[in-house]
Amino acid sequence: EKGEYRHFMEKEIHEQPDSVQHTLSHYLDFVNGRVKPGEIDFAAVDRIQIVACGTAFYAGQIGRYAFERLAGLPCDVEIASEFRYRNPAVAPGTLAVAVSQSGETADTLASLSWCKANGLKTAALVNVHSSSMAREALVVWPTHAGPEIGVASTKAFTAQVAALLALAVTAGVQRGRIDPLIEGELVKALFEAPRLIAEAVQMDGALRGVAHELSKATDVLFLGRGAMFPLAMEGALKLKEISYIHAEGYAAGELKHGPIALVDELTPIVALAPLDEVFEKTASNLQEVAARGGPVIMIAPKAAPDPHGAGISRIDAPDCHPLIAPLVYAIPVQLLAYYTAVEKGTDVDQPRNLAKSVTVE
Ligand code: F6R
Repeated sequence: EKGEYRHFMEKEIHEQPDSVQHTLSHYLDFVNGRVKPGEIDFAAVDRIQIVACGTAFYAGQIGRYAFERLAGLPCDVEIASEFRYRNPAVAPGTLAVAVSQSGETADTLASLSWCKANGLKTAALVNVHSSSMAREALVVWPTHAGPEIGVASTKAFTAQVAALLALAVTAGVQRGRIDPLIEGELVKALFEAPRLIAEAVQMDGALRGVAHELSKATDVLFLGRGAMFPLAMEGALKLKEISYIHAEGYAAGELKHGPIALVDELTPIVALAPLDEVFEKTASNLQEVAARGGPVIMIAPKAAPDPHGAGISRIDAPDCHPLIAPLVYAIPVQLLAYYTAVEKGTDVDQPRNLAKSVTVE
C-alpha cells in the first residue's frame, strides 16, 4: 500500500531511515559501539570479488572503497554478465560476494555459482533471504530493506551500501587495521546515518526546483570523486530509468579527458561534493565546467566553501562523516530522479521496458 504517497518509489525513499537502521543493527552493536563478529573471519580473507548488476553493482563499488581504505583488503567489483563469461583468474583466498536485492538475477547467480564451483568462499548480500543466491552461498549477509515494489531500486541500494560499510569496518577490526577507539568512532558515524538520511529526505523543496530544470534537459552529467563516483553513476542510472533523460556519471577528475566536450549551457551538471579530503579537487573540476558555460548544481554541506565561478548553484546537504556520505547523498540523488520523472509525467513505479527482477540473461 502506498498510503499517503503518490508512488511506491516516493514511499520507499522515505522509508530509508528505517531500512538503513534495521540493516545496520544486524551488523553493529550500537549499545557498545562495536561491530558484531559474523560468520566470515576477514583476517583469513586475502581478496574480495564482488559481482552484481545495475544498482547493486554501484553499491558494490562503494563497498570497495571502504574495504580497501578501512581494512586494507584488496577488492574487485565486476558486472556479473561480464564476469561469468570471461574466465576470470581469481586467486585462492578470495571471498566472492554477490550483491542483489532479489537474489535471483540470472547473471549474478551464475557468477556466484561459478565462484563456488571454483573453490572460493561465497557470500550473498541479499534482500530476499530465501532467494536462490541465499541458498547457493556459504554465508548470507542480509539487508533489511523490506519488500521493494518500485522497479527503480532505492531503499535496497542504501541497505546494500549500509551493510557493506558495516562489513568493511568489521573487516578493518578483524584485520587489526582499526583499533577500538576508531571502531567506536566509525560505529557512531554509522549510527548517525538514519537521522541524517531523515534530514536529507527533507531537502525536497530545493530539489524540486532543480528537477524542473532537469526535466527540460536532454542530457545530464553527474560528477563525484571517491565513493561519490559510483553514486554519480547510480544517480545517472536512476534518472535514465524513470525520466528517460540521458545521463552519465563520471569521476570528476576524468571529465577533462573527454566528456568536458559535452558541456554547454543546456547540459546540467550535478556534482556530489561532501566535505571530504577530495572536496577541493572536485571544486576545481566544477570551476572548469562552469567556465565552459555548464550550469552546475553542487550538492554540498553548508560549511563547504563556494567554488569561485559563475553558474554554480548550491543545494545544502546535511553535514556528515565521510564514511556515511554515500548513504546521505543517495537521498538527493534519488529525489532528483523522482521529481524529474514526476515533472515529466512518466510511469515512475513501472518504467517502460524494465522488469523488477531480471531472471533471464
Ligand atoms: C535499478 C535496478 C537494477 C537492479 C539490477 C539488479 O534501479 O533496480 O539495476 O539493481 O537489475 O537487481 P538485483 O539487485 O535484484 O540483483
